[in-house]
Amino acid sequence: WISLSSLLVSLLTFWNPHPTAQLTIEPVPFDAAEGTDILLLVHNASQNTIGYYWFKGNTTEDSHEIISYSILTQNINTGPAFSGRETLYTNGSLLFTNVTKEDTGFYTLRILNNDLRPVLATGEFRVHEPVTPPHLTASNTTVAEGESVELTCVPNDTEISIQWLFNNKTLPLTDRMQLSLNNSILTINSVKKTDEGEYNCEVSNQIFSQKSNPIMLTVIAGPGGDDIPGGPSPGGLSPGAIAGIVIGVLAGVGLIAGLGYFLFFRKTGGASDQHDLTEHIPSASNHSPGPSDHSPDKGDDVAYSSLNFNIQELTQPSSPTSPSPTATETVYSELKKK
Ligand SMILES: *[C@@H]1O[C@H](CO)[C@@H](O)[C@H](O)[C@H]1NC(C)=O
Ligand SMILES: *[C@@H]1O[C@H](CO)[C@@H](O)[C@H](O)[C@H]1NC(C)=O
Ligand SMILES: *[C@@H]1O[C@H](CO)[C@@H](O)[C@H](O)[C@H]1NC(C)=O
Ligand SMILES: *[C@@H]1O[C@H](CO)[C@@H](O)[C@H](O)[C@H]1NC(C)=O
Ligand SMILES: *[C@@H]1O[C@H](CO)[C@@H](O)[C@H](O)[C@H]1NC(C)=O
Ligand SMILES: *[C@@H]1O[C@H](CO)[C@@H](O)[C@H](O)[C@H]1NC(C)=O
Ligand SMILES: *[C@@H]1O[C@H](CO)[C@@H](O)[C@H](O)[C@H]1NC(C)=O
Ligand SMILES: *[C@@H]1O[C@H](CO)[C@@H](O)[C@H](O)[C@H]1NC(C)=O
Repeated sequence: WISLSSLLVSLLTFWNPHPTAQLTIEPVPFDAAEGTDILLLVHNASQNTIGYYWFKGNTTEDSHEIISYSILTQNINTGPAFSGRETLYTNGSLLFTNVTKEDTGFYTLRILNNDLRPVLATGEFRVHEPVTPPHLTASNTTVAEGESVELTCVPNDTEISIQWLFNNKTLPLTDRMQLSLNNSILTINSVKKTDEGEYNCEVSNQIFSQKSNPIMLTVIAGPGGDDIPGGPSPGGLSPGAIAGIVIGVLAGVGLIAGLGYFLFFRKTGGASDQHDLTEHIPSASNHSPGPSDHSPDKGDDVAYSSLNFNIQELTQPSSPTSPSPTATETVYSELKKK
């Protein structure tokens, strides 16, 4: 035994190319889902290594030994902390299969070199459980402009962070909004019509995320507002849509009138401001496709398309303009719940 290792010591001493290289442990991956596998890779192990000893935790106490491998004897021994899910490779790397949340933590590797001086390195990984959907409540789902409203996210999980979604996209925080320390309460002060829409909170850890039930916030005209109180009439058009129609109709009328003038001026030999008229009228309706053909029977078509456009835009202020967000969306002042 002793003579054998002494022989190896003398032989291997000459073959150490990086005597000062730092022994390190790399977890692959660092964050993992329960039930998956994690490999603790050993880097910069000395060429003179004669044994690997793995321990659970930041310790080398015998009671925490998981598994060891002696290169000299080619023996693998399991320790008290061995779960049956660990596999030790001959290069020292340790594989964990079907990891559980309890596997989260530090792992220490002790390497024995041929000079019999142990070298230590510590690695760490985290195992995450699936999360369940949080529950979202609101102080009131119908609020008047200028009032404030409080949305409360109640998660069922620990060690999660909370994000807020508005119409399925990350909520853009305005200076009228404030979040509680752990993001669980969203307060919107001086509510505006633009705050109307669908709200969700979302809980996530490094691997999993879940969206809450949606809450539809309706904003009605505040005291002194010039809109009809009571919000949009059921199945009908919101005040905004009615305004849109009025604007659309006026724009259409203006357009027809403008075209009439234009045609009149063209027929009567034209005035110097004919060019100005045709430019100003389309910009008044904002969304007019712009009359490229000035023939009289096209006038009505142009007016209708401009009218339709206005209705569509104003009756769907909360329609999504992009697909659903992913779990990796940016988070504002995210805080971990401990
Ligand atoms: C190996 O050790 C050297 C010297 O300490 C260090 O620069 C290098 O990053 C180490 N490699 C790894 C993979 O840890
Ligand atoms: C060690 O062996 C394992 C299993 O063969 C392999 O996956 C790993 O890449 C090897 N290398 C290191 C640096 O551990
Ligand atoms: C391990 O424990 C030692 C002593 O208690 C400490 O100095 C070291 O920072 C710890 N390392 C880790 C990775 O926790
Ligand atoms: C993984 O572990 C769980 C318990 O933690 C067990 O129910 C399951 O059968 C295991 N799966 C495999 C493939 O070993
Ligand atoms: C909340 O979590 C517990 C376990 O942590 C689970 O049994 C329960 O089903 C969860 N409730 C909901 C509503 O997801
Ligand atoms: C919700 O807010 C509206 C508008 O301010 C108010 O009329 C209503 O009483 C509130 N409902 C509750 C339950 O607070
Ligand atoms: C948000 O997405 C859900 C499906 O993930 C869908 O049912 C809902 O209508 C969407 N809400 C909005 C406002 O787009
Ligand atoms: C957030 O903090 C409040 C108190 O500040 C506490 O009541 C609540 O349980 C916390 N929620 C989460 C998800 O941490």
